[in-house]
Amino acid sequence: MPDKIEIQNLSRSYSKKGGKSERFYALKDFSLTVRQGEFVTIVGPSGCGKSTLLDLLIGLAKPDEGRVLIDGKPIGGPSLDRGIVLQGYALFPWRTVRGNIEFGLEVKGIPKASRREMSDYYIKLVDLVGFENHYPYELSGGMQQRTAIARILAYDPAILMMDEPFAAVDAQTREVMQDELLSIWEKTGKTVIFVTHSIEEAVGLADRVAVMSRSPGQVKEIVDINLPRPRRVGTIRNTPEFVALFHRVWELLRNAEQSGGKDDGGIAGVSGRIHPAAVI
Ligand SMILES: Nc1ncnc2c1ncn2[C@@H]1O[C@H](COP(=O)(O)OP(=O)(O)OP(=O)(O)O)[C@@H](O)[C@H]1O
Ligand SMILES: [Mg+2]
Repeated sequence: MPDKIEIQNLSRSYSKKGGKSERFYALKDFSLTVRQGEFVTIVGPSGCGKSTLLDLLIGLAKPDEGRVLIDGKPIGGPSLDRGIVLQGYALFPWRTVRGNIEFGLEVKGIPKASRREMSDYYIKLVDLVGFENHYPYELSGGMQQRTAIARILAYDPAILMMDEPFAAVDAQTREVMQDELLSIWEKTGKTVIFVTHSIEEAVGLADRVAVMSRSPGQVKEIVDINLPRPRRVGTIRNTPEFVALFHRVWELLRNAEQSGGKDDGGIAGVSGRIHPAAVI
């Protein structure tokens, strides 16, 4: 498979509080190549630069150094055409659940009847039947998050970037969503970059897990997940192969956590600071 996304030596710094010219590196020399149709998950200690990385990938922020190529071309700003949608853009408060889910479909010029059919499908999928006409302020956090996930899945981008998308949904819904994401991915061959604090989710979903080190954020190690496909997280998590991979990632994260500097901590598996974007 050809390379879809080439992340080359990305660095992103912020000025240090108090220090006039000193810089703090949220990401330093971060490189990763993702193949067409590959499912890559990213785990790392809280504050290691995962959300910063996604901001750079979608073109919301500019790197100090390095570049990102998609299909061999450097990215500019955010672009719907490029098919990158980051989980977590706030829902439009003036649109209902259905209106939010249909937004991307309207942008694409899909006729009303088809939009309706598609939004019906995704509303059912994320278990929001009966809430179609509710506005975001009338929903719980998890329901808002499910609406945002439905909106992204309905929009159907070529590259799916998700930042802890299932962090605020209950365990059962999480499993349903994971399986749905896997089945959509299997059918469509999307390229996925998925950030999570759950090792089980990272291993269960991925072709490869990129484990990041603590600030400055870099890829510490990439773990190949050679578990059979098609796969469902719920059915493979008790297999010895899965458990071995889980422990491998867990060890790497424990070391990443211990070798780090200051920050607010939170080993993966235990939810760390939830990126505001993931809560919606
Ligand atoms: N706008 C900003 N100004 C200054 N520092 C920032 C800014 N945004 C992020 N940082 C810092 O950059 C580092 C990386 O933040 P980032 O949000 O990318 O971490 P993360 O890996 O997504 O963490 P989490 O797992 O908790 O979501 C953190 O130390 C954070 O404090
Ligand atoms: Mg984050």
